[in-house]
Amino acid sequence: MTTVFSNSGVDDDTRRELLYGGQVFVYPATSASGRLAAFARELVAEAFGGRDPETAQFDMPVEEFAELLASLKPRFIHHPRCKELLPALLEELGCDLERTYFDVPRLRTSTSHDYLTSGISYAFHPHRDCWYSAPFNQVNWWIPVYAVVPENVMAFHPQYFGTPVRNGSARYDYAEWNRTSRATAARHVRGDTREQPRPEEEVTLEPQVRVVPEPGGVMVFSGAQLHSTVPNTSGRTRFSIDFRTVHIDDVRARRGARNVDAACTGTTLRDFVRCADLDPMPEELALAYEAEALTRSGAGPERVPSRS
Ligand SMILES: [Fe+2]
Repeated sequence: MTTVFSNSGVDDDTRRELLYGGQVFVYPATSASGRLAAFARELVAEAFGGRDPETAQFDMPVEEFAELLASLKPRFIHHPRCKELLPALLEELGCDLERTYFDVPRLRTSTSHDYLTSGISYAFHPHRDCWYSAPFNQVNWWIPVYAVVPENVMAFHPQYFGTPVRNGSARYDYAEWNRTSRATAARHVRGDTREQPRPEEEVTLEPQVRVVPEPGGVMVFSGAQLHSTVPNTSGRTRFSIDFRTVHIDDVRARRGARNVDAACTGTTLRDFVRCADLDPMPEELALAYEAEALTRSGAGPERVPSRS
């Protein structure tokens, strides 16, 4: 069973425990999340000039649209404003800034009617972030930039939270992905040839849960949830912000969602910085997680070439 908690008053420790059990939280816009969405709208409006960003796709060649996103998205992701607003938002929602680490926020788009579903505007097939080397204690935060509808949000497939899905994560290594595939996203306009972990058996997409927060509203879920981009039939491009957090006590204690089927190697832990001062995740934790992932994947230390 998956429960969606609306504007819950539980503290962050309780919330993380519930998230690791597959529950979902949603909050109305806070001061900082509202400002974050407004800041995204500002950058989007600037990039699209006089056009309505939600319908511009119908008047633009797809290559031009992809190019525009390829310059807009990194500008948002790496903007210093975001590094102030994310910790402020997390504090408003009860996180301990000394113990909570976040990674850069992504600006995502989902275009309507299969206009652009690859590369820079990738339509995610059902996946768990844990297939992409995310730690099992990763918490995902998702915020619409403009009003969204059920036809252009994302979906959870909660019946799989505790049930394995045969998948290609064993062929995914985060370090390898960073070396080769990530930088090329903007080039994949007519199809995406980058290998990504996906289900390797039929996945029953129904029943599914779609949450529709208000612009600036915040949805929170475990990175171990099976989730996907819904086929956008709304007639409007969806713009949303998402980012991830981990709590260092959980990282140290290996507390998190249960691993039911991930076999990837590498770890995304080095992407996280501490809310309070932007200090990096301690390297020894990243190294330990890498070693554990290697053992879990079956590659095992005995298969690592010796350095002698
Ligand atoms: Fe995801």
